[in-house]
Amino acid sequence: TRTPVNVTVTGAAGQIGYALLFRIASGHLLGADVPVKLRLLEITPALGAAQGTAMELDDCAFPLLRGIEITDDPNVAFDGANVALLVGARPRTKGMERGDLLEANGGIFKPQGKAINDHAADDIKVLVVGNPANTNALIAQAAAPDVPAERFTAMTRLDHNRAISQLAAKTGAAVSDIKRLTIWGNHSATQYPDIFHAEIAGKNAAEVVGDEAWLADTFIPTVAKRGAAIIEARGASSAASAANAAIDHVHTWVNGTAEGDWTSMGIPSDGSYGVPEGLISSFPVTTKNGTYEIVQGLDINEFSRPRIDASVQELAEERDAVRALGLI
Ligand code: NAI
Repeated sequence: TRTPVNVTVTGAAGQIGYALLFRIASGHLLGADVPVKLRLLEITPALGAAQGTAMELDDCAFPLLRGIEITDDPNVAFDGANVALLVGARPRTKGMERGDLLEANGGIFKPQGKAINDHAADDIKVLVVGNPANTNALIAQAAAPDVPAERFTAMTRLDHNRAISQLAAKTGAAVSDIKRLTIWGNHSATQYPDIFHAEIAGKNAAEVVGDEAWLADTFIPTVAKRGAAIIEARGASSAASAANAAIDHVHTWVNGTAEGDWTSMGIPSDGSYGVPEGLISSFPVTTKNGTYEIVQGLDINEFSRPRIDASVQELAEERDAVRALGLI
């Protein structure tokens, strides 16, 4: 029998946590034959709610779930962690300046990064979901100098999945026929969903669409502003789809991309495609045996270049802001 994998989830009592934990426990995160132990990190006032969710997890009698521990101490939550999903974050409230938002999140992600550094397992893989995800990942990474930098990733898989779905709806293709789509840059309104290298049933997606105005005026803004559209319609932010994307991100990282396809992940740049080294930016990546590589050699056309650059510029500004605050 396999040793259980320790999975730590922060913000476990939140909306995404509620949609996420049951799928982790039922085997969708790592594989249907991988037992898991859950560690739930919450702030003290939310421990009771986390306890309630844990009771429901018990009541599912999941065969793969080998234990649940609930704590408000990051040092306990990340002890021996193999996978960490950092979901809990400080949302922007009315009238809050960007500096205040970054500072509040620094107060969360810096101590969590340090606890990961000091207590996590050697093979720790970190996914940051809590916004601003890319910059929160940078803060946690900077606080964990003993962990290989590439283990800190940020989630753009929801954007990737949204883009595939929009493209399928436009062209009438099946979702499963769409490959090699890329989200570049920041998980924010500046992100750039790129279909110029994507394929629909083996044909170039941009040629199948054949409509640059639709790309510029409909597709890109629809994908980039989808989060706001969900809030408008649902009265609450995306939760099940975000949890699903977190599952997809880690599952792909651990189990590999399909031959001939790739995915999008926010990862520390090695300088590829003109993205300054060290920024946690979304790239096209292939994964294999728990490691990932940036897809190299893609031709970036005149339509794409300024859009990638604008999102990367925003990431650089966020990095400079957290640096000025002493968070990295
Ligand atoms: P939520 O507000 O329902 O839950 C957040 C939970 O985090 C709360 O239970 C809160 O008590 C907890 N928390 C706050 N500080 C914490 C700390 N220091 N340690 C542990 N837990 C802490 O929010 P929801 O809807 O679950 O979203 C969570 C985050 O995910 C938000 O930042 C949201 O913006 C982000 N998000 C990111 C997406 C992406 O594509 N990257 C997509 C959707 C949401």
